[in-house]
Amino acid sequence: MIIAPLVGKQLTSFELSTARINLWDGSVRSSKTISSLVRWLKFVRTAPPGPLLMVGKTERTLRRNILDPLVEMLGEHRCRVVAGSGELHLLGRKVYLVGANDERAQEKIRGLSLVGAYCDEVSTLPESFFVMLLTRLSIPGAALFGTTNPDGPQHWLKVGYLDRAALWLDHNGQLNHSTAGDALNLHRFSFQLADNPSLDPQYVADVSAEFTGLWRRRLILGEWCLAEGVVYESWDPGRHVVTELPAMARWLVLALDYGTTNPFHALLIGLGVDRRLYVAHEWRWDSRKQRGSLTDAEYSARLRAWVEGLGIRPEYTVIDPSAASFRVQLHRDGWSSVLADNDVVDGIRDVASLLATGRLLVSDQCPELIAEIPAYAWDPKAAEKGEDKPIKVADHGVDALRYGIRTTRALWHGQLAEPILAAA
Ligand SMILES: Nc1ncnc2c1ncn2[C@@H]1O[C@H](COP(=O)(O)OP(=O)(O)OP(=O)(O)O)[C@@H](O)[C@H]1O
Ligand SMILES: [Mg+2]
Repeated sequence: MIIAPLVGKQLTSFELSTARINLWDGSVRSSKTISSLVRWLKFVRTAPPGPLLMVGKTERTLRRNILDPLVEMLGEHRCRVVAGSGELHLLGRKVYLVGANDERAQEKIRGLSLVGAYCDEVSTLPESFFVMLLTRLSIPGAALFGTTNPDGPQHWLKVGYLDRAALWLDHNGQLNHSTAGDALNLHRFSFQLADNPSLDPQYVADVSAEFTGLWRRRLILGEWCLAEGVVYESWDPGRHVVTELPAMARWLVLALDYGTTNPFHALLIGLGVDRRLYVAHEWRWDSRKQRGSLTDAEYSARLRAWVEGLGIRPEYTVIDPSAASFRVQLHRDGWSSVLADNDVVDGIRDVASLLATGRLLVSDQCPELIAEIPAYAWDPKAAEKGEDKPIKVADHGVDALRYGIRTTRALWHGQLAEPILAAA
């Protein structure tokens, strides 16, 4: 990778990142990583002697997001990961590599005295690790450099650090100085897509369309905003509900949310010959509305009879991770299944993006799902605590949808028709 000379805000942030803590926050792909890495390399070249550290959520993401590009930028002779040792040789210096994805991660750096640290995606690190890391940066001249995408406004990084910056280069390129008594020796640089001149305008147009609602505000506009209101903001029955289905090129998945006292909700999702995804059929058993609860064996028999009655053989059956016993039952009945990817926020983001770009449609044969989608909302109580979580009511169809879409991402990603955007 050839790095073009930094320009505009990239260059200003490079020059102004002279504090003890230097943080780049803002939109995706806005060149936070490139700008901060160029700065980090200068620091590594000129820093006082002492150990250096590079941190990611996991060693794998650190490698993918940061180390692979660095090796490409500098060549193996100037940047080399020492296999198996968790160390990097960078410009003649030794750098420790650490993944910090849980509360125990701080143990890995306890007792170290560091002169410098680089952190990828700081908001995804445990606060306890970040606090420990700052205490480790004890050698005179020590500094930290890090990037982050925005999260909620109550996030520990926002409240405890970013809001207390002594110097802040904001989204508009305005330089703000804080004289508040609790200001930290921290310089903050807030980036937006426009701060990265190397982005293809088509890419900017595409991602701006694909992200809606919460993600649009955070990942495109770069705001630290609350997860509030309805989850699927672009949902429009006039646009998303269809009365006729095209032929299916593939029946991708039977996705289900298991419930005994709660409803059991199953969806069949196909990839149409028009290269859009269709939720074509639903089956639901609500023990409170119907004739009592079913055993796992009864569920299995009815579910299989339903799918076979439709003449459909889905490629995958995806089951919610809490339904281990039901999965065993299905297996006994000769029906294999996989556990769903239950990353709630990632799953919602996939569904939201597909809805926004008109590439996920729902048959009017799925009335229960159609009733749930517009009522699916972020939980304001969780948001106050800095968590992004939907309210857990009437979420059985929408959960099945999320499982089905997220878990089969590899099957449809890159296979779909061009985005079709809503009329303004
Ligand atoms: N000066 C530059 N020279 C060459 N390429 C650049 C430069 N600045 C940015 N880019 C390109 O822009 C892309 C996005 O930049 P970068 O990865 O730094 O963004 P980011 O803000 O860290 O994004 P994310 O939030 O997704 O991590 C990079 O992959 C790189 O290809
Ligand atoms: Mg980055």
